[in-house]
Amino acid sequence: MNILILGSGGREHAFAKKISESNKITNLYVAPGNAGTATVAKNLPINPTDFLKVKETVLQHEISMVVVGPEAPLVEGVHDFFLADNELKKIPVIGPKKDGALLEGSKDFSKQFMEKHNIPTARYQSFTKDTLKEGFAFLETLNPPFVLKADGLAAGKGVLILNELEEAKTELEEMLSNQKFGEASSTVVIEEFLDGIELSVFVLTDGKSYKILPSAKDYKRIGEGDTGLNTGGMGAISPVPFADEAFLQKVEERVVKPTVIGLQKDGIDYRGFVFIGLMNVDGNPQVIEYNVRMGDPETEVVLPRIQSDLVDLFEGVANQTLESKSYEVTNQIATTVMLVSGGYPEAYEKGKEITGFDSVNDSIVFHAGTTEKDGKVVSNGGRVMAVTSFGDSIEEALEKSYASIDEISFEKMNYRKDIGFDLL
Ligand code: AMP
Ligand code: GLY
Repeated sequence: MNILILGSGGREHAFAKKISESNKITNLYVAPGNAGTATVAKNLPINPTDFLKVKETVLQHEISMVVVGPEAPLVEGVHDFFLADNELKKIPVIGPKKDGALLEGSKDFSKQFMEKHNIPTARYQSFTKDTLKEGFAFLETLNPPFVLKADGLAAGKGVLILNELEEAKTELEEMLSNQKFGEASSTVVIEEFLDGIELSVFVLTDGKSYKILPSAKDYKRIGEGDTGLNTGGMGAISPVPFADEAFLQKVEERVVKPTVIGLQKDGIDYRGFVFIGLMNVDGNPQVIEYNVRMGDPETEVVLPRIQSDLVDLFEGVANQTLESKSYEVTNQIATTVMLVSGGYPEAYEKGKEITGFDSVNDSIVFHAGTTEKDGKVVSNGGRVMAVTSFGDSIEEALEKSYASIDEISFEKMNYRKDIGFDLL
């Protein structure tokens, strides 16, 4: 069959590599892709949220399945667009429709969903500019730090964690009355601070049954020791050592099952990934957020550990036969370290030639922000490459990633040298 992947990051390269290994694949396309996806698939210069262009491409290349990488096309309704079109409606889309994508597209919706289905999460209330005063009053009932979340998508920047009450009030007003995050902060969720260690659990569901994919821990801050600005993610490790069988059992019973059953009860036919951001609070999972896609760079450690045919699993999602599909994961530990452009997550330069990645043997080099120019691979984004390795221990896998990184270079290349520091 012919498959089209939408997206262009390290996540999409990891999808493309895994899907290209399936013997069910005839032609694989990525739109728009990067220099890495071009080695395992054909890139098509299309914007994933330009649905008419996506349609044209799907018909032209006789695509029989679309896998959606990022959240934007899902939140904007790419799956609904397919279902509403006579020529596209039989082509399965891996990723939820607009109604399910609201789990990520609206924090207020996702909190209401969790409350309704008794899924453990921080106590919260939502406010708009008309209820600003009530928002101040709610803040006064909470202990610091204060957590303010823009309801809508804000490019990963919409969450503020503040230590001072006065500062929290000022920021709440900025968000609600002065549109600090534009339309995204016209509603703000204020919630209790959860004190614990974060991890992510990924679920693939066909709306009836589910497979729990490997857990992963992401390192979001730019600086070593988890300091400095937030990024899209500077590295990841899978599995998470403290997510042992007992903990994962709690995650399945208290979070995964009620989520899948809750979607059914609410009439939301959800077929795709659910990314569950969790806080481990004294051994008990609390949900921080849902995303309706895989994580990046978590995908770069989760997918390489899955030994089953991903296309077979996706067919199960499309046909609602996921329950009968074989699903196996290696016990080997995977680590990934992200190479970023100097200056990221603030201003950075692009177009720097990248060398040495081709001769790496002990790791898988997933391209993120790369492109080809005059026969050379050059940087084309803040996060440039993710270097993934396996090992019997976190130390062994990390040693391989760092040794491979020594072979790779581009001007102003930066990376964290302490991925996994808190787990060793
Ligand atoms: P979110 O976009 O909801 O994942 O929030 C971004 C980050 O803020 C999370 O990854 C957490 O590190 C942090 N965070 C969000 N909500 C809370 C909370 N209730 N308590 C503590 N930290 C939080
Ligand atoms: N690495 C975090 C995310 O993909 O949202």
